[in-house]
Amino acid sequence: MMIQVENLNKSYNKNICVLKNININIKKGEIVGIVGSSGCGKSTFLKTLNALEPINSGSIYIDGIKLDSKKNIREARKKIGIVFQGYNLFENYTVIENITLAPIKVKKMNKEDAYNKARKLLKKIDLMDREDFYPHQLSGGQKQRVAIARCLAMEPLVLLFDEPTSALDPQMTLEVLNVMRELKHDGLTMVIVSHELRFLSEIADKIVFMYNNTIWEESSSYDFFNNPKTNEASEFLSHVKSF
Ligand SMILES: Nc1ncnc2c1ncn2[C@@H]1O[C@H](COP(=O)(O)OP(=O)(O)OP(=O)(O)O)[C@@H](O)[C@H]1O
Ligand SMILES: [Mg+2]
Repeated sequence: MMIQVENLNKSYNKNICVLKNININIKKGEIVGIVGSSGCGKSTFLKTLNALEPINSGSIYIDGIKLDSKKNIREARKKIGIVFQGYNLFENYTVIENITLAPIKVKKMNKEDAYNKARKLLKKIDLMDREDFYPHQLSGGQKQRVAIARCLAMEPLVLLFDEPTSALDPQMTLEVLNVMRELKHDGLTMVIVSHELRFLSEIADKIVFMYNNTIWEESSSYDFFNNPKTNEASEFLSHVKSF
């Protein structure tokens, strides 16, 4: 298993439980889509997987490493990348500097190797001619692709995506989704929070439907979209039927 979550509970304030008894196993190479209405805990859940948010009880294992000590969290984080809706690029660094910063600083990769690797990634995201641009000179879709490349430069086993395309127009959304499709072919494990249901129905192996701050339904992608098990999931899908 790449990700194991057991009896996870989380609240920000003492009496409001934001994640209630979450249990899930995600296999190596599996693509999991997380859907559910606003406020049900999707972003919080992704953050707990990267130990960006502390939990109140339960256990999380990333590639067998339990997130229960600083040392383990440091080890686990080497295996996980996270891509947010906002791109979080360093505005005062160029594209290639953004991508090579962590490999050089954290992984102690030498500069030449890091730059060679970054150029391969730029090819993958189709931005070879933009390496010396600054983030403000890029479109939203280009920035988001750089954000993905920056994660990939650390060679993660798992990538978490929190609504990676929600700030983008349809054309830029397509460009980002195409990059994500390629990552599936590379065998990366991905957990994707998205409202792009058509995309999820195509790329995801499994859909997790969150409702009432817990996992209400977990199904194969095909079953979730064609034959949801719960009334709540049916209702959710009927509201977003336009997909
Ligand atoms: N830092 C915080 N402090 C206190 N409460 C928070 C914090 N972050 C989120 N919450 C609360 O936790 C709940 C879940 O928030 P979360 O952002 O995980 O939802 P979401 O499913 O990602 O929603 P959306 O679809 O709108 O992004 C919400 O009720 C929110 O108000
Ligand atoms: Mg969210």
